[in-house]
Amino acid sequence: MTTRHMTLRVNGAEYDVAAAPDTLLLDALRYTCGLTGAKLGCGTGDCGACTVTVDGEAVNSCLVYVLECEGHPVETVEGVTASGIGAVVAEEFVKADAVQCGFCSPGIIMSTCALLARTEPGAVTDEDIKEALAGNLCRCTGYVPILDAVRRASGARR
Ligand code: FES
Ligand code: FES
Repeated sequence: MTTRHMTLRVNGAEYDVAAAPDTLLLDALRYTCGLTGAKLGCGTGDCGACTVTVDGEAVNSCLVYVLECEGHPVETVEGVTASGIGAVVAEEFVKADAVQCGFCSPGIIMSTCALLARTEPGAVTDEDIKEALAGNLCRCTGYVPILDAVRRASGARR
């Protein structure tokens, strides 16, 4: 299959990616950019372990072709503390003990950042959180500390 070189912007840095039409964003991030925070769980859009943001929107990177991302900035968990929102989210996830094995955490943190970026500080409701995280599965925590961390992160931005 023909490949072509493209520039992928991730966490503010530019990467040269040799992309075939079927190269997934997740694979480009992990194997070309060396950013292994986003995980391959199901590969079918059901678990959210691969969640990153593209243009600020949370997406399953296992379902997105990297060529679609040319000119559209990508953020991953590796860059999360570079933004004010991300730094607060990371801190509150640690404080709330919302990370156990950590496999789901990069995706949940990126979904949370996308939610808080489109919501007024302190205005996030439990329904908003459940809707935003509906595509992110966690096998360890039972979700209670995760919900707590997101509430606290929203409140911390007041
Ligand atoms: S690996 Fe992408 S949604 Fe599960
Ligand atoms: S912390 Fe283990 S899957 Fe969520």
